[in-house]
Amino acid sequence: MKNTFYVTTPIYYPSGKFHIGTAYTTVLADTIKRYKKLRGYDTYMLTGTDEHGQKIQTVAEKMGKTPQQYVDEMAQQAKELWAKMHISYDDFIRTTEDRHKKVAQKIFEYFLEKGDIYKGEYEGLYCMPCESYFTETQLVDGKCPDCGREVKLMKEEAYFFNMKKYADRLLKYYDEHPEFIEPEYRKTEMINNFIKPGLEDLCVSRTTFDWGIKVASDSKHVIYVWVDALTNYLTALGYLSEDDTLFKKYWPADLQIVGKDIARFHLIYWPIFLMALDLPLPKTILVHNWIMMKDGKMSKSKGNVVYPEKLIDRYGLDATRYFLLRELPISQDGLYTPESFVERYNSDLCNDLGNLVNRTVSMVNKYFEGKVPEYNGTPNEVDTEFEEFTNKQIEKIEQLMDKYELSNALPELWALISRTNKYIDETRPWELAKNEETEKLESSMYHLIENIRKIGILLIPIMEETAQNLLKQIGIPENLQTWESLKKYDELKNIKVIEKGEPLFMRKNMEEELEYLRN
Ligand code: ME8
Repeated sequence: MKNTFYVTTPIYYPSGKFHIGTAYTTVLADTIKRYKKLRGYDTYMLTGTDEHGQKIQTVAEKMGKTPQQYVDEMAQQAKELWAKMHISYDDFIRTTEDRHKKVAQKIFEYFLEKGDIYKGEYEGLYCMPCESYFTETQLVDGKCPDCGREVKLMKEEAYFFNMKKYADRLLKYYDEHPEFIEPEYRKTEMINNFIKPGLEDLCVSRTTFDWGIKVASDSKHVIYVWVDALTNYLTALGYLSEDDTLFKKYWPADLQIVGKDIARFHLIYWPIFLMALDLPLPKTILVHNWIMMKDGKMSKSKGNVVYPEKLIDRYGLDATRYFLLRELPISQDGLYTPESFVERYNSDLCNDLGNLVNRTVSMVNKYFEGKVPEYNGTPNEVDTEFEEFTNKQIEKIEQLMDKYELSNALPELWALISRTNKYIDETRPWELAKNEETEKLESSMYHLIENIRKIGILLIPIMEETAQNLLKQIGIPENLQTWESLKKYDELKNIKVIEKGEPLFMRKNMEEELEYLRN
């Protein structure tokens, strides 16, 4: 069995500060990587920046910078955000790096030699001042969507990739590999909207700007844009370079995560490029939807953009990660509202999780001077039912995590948290203490700590700091923090909880928070 796990995010356009939507893909990839690591895989995560193109050149010029200066600053900014978000990537590829440019050029030349790339003419609606082509649908009132000026139908020499040649092979591949595209409806979409009506060849070069990788054999062209962008997933591993150890070890990718707007490029062009290179295809490409605002898409012009820093600085990284993973179902758009953020914080994190830990720690201190009683081997009816429920939930959560369904796994994890809270009400430890029913009281405390330990382990990939804090408060040694130890129920011995734990999350006042979040 292959014991490696290679996961990628898209490489981001460094065209401004990243918002919570952009951060979502990366948090999801990071969480899955951490989960796989915990399950014993040798993991590798790639992210990076997509630094070429007309847009970047224009923005840089407007700012009085060279494009290189501009992308250097932006890549640095991206790295700072990922550091703040504890994104555990193993490599950060920038498409302006030599290691990428050289190999992207080689790949282009190889496609040319094979006859998969041919020279033709590109025709499109061109805006002179912006030096950009647009399609009919991109225009706003028939004018340039960027500057509002007239566009003209223009032609230029360009290279094209012969997509048609691979269409049947791609359909066959889809058919034989049901796990290739997640969720499945995206496959149907690709087939019905793009492949069945006839795949169009893809324009892969431009001569109207020069901020790009030059075509090695024809330097008036720059590679545009998907042969440059998509091949990052290979060049980062050293494909076709002197040292291809990582490539040999990790390719094919196990999981590539992309947003819906770039689904077509990753589900059609990317596998075709790989087929043309005779390389195995990634095991799964996961397409997620978008985080939306009440008034639609997040956009600077609407002024409704939410930056991750705003949430992290006030509520912490874990609350931010939790919200993103919980609220964005993969197959539908998710909604961000300040109300829902605060509500999740207060209700899920503070009340359900925080209080459970707090109440339990103080009871173990009160009734047993902080020493967790040992498992007494004869659980009563309530305990047995509780153990069974817990095991069943863990199994469910594991299965959902294996399918990368974080937004479905989290409600199941919270069902376990709620059930554990309910167990306190069912066993009523304060009455057991009053009536001196010691054995039952011991069992109740043992089961509570045991379940909190399990909840802590399940939280490690999602909210590392909270998980560590929680496990520390209940005094769990490292050997009982592993995923394997989730299956154990009776091994806690000589465990001492902390005397006075800090609350994991502090309740917030809705009105005050809305004030902060709306400004
Ligand atoms: O597309 N919610 O880069 P990019 C969720 N350079 N995801 C969102 C989002 C939102 N509101 N807004 C954007 C590119 N995204 C190319 C990729 S890969 C070889 C080249 C996601 O910076 C978007 O769907 O425009 C995409 O997956 C990612 O952010 C990067 O977008």
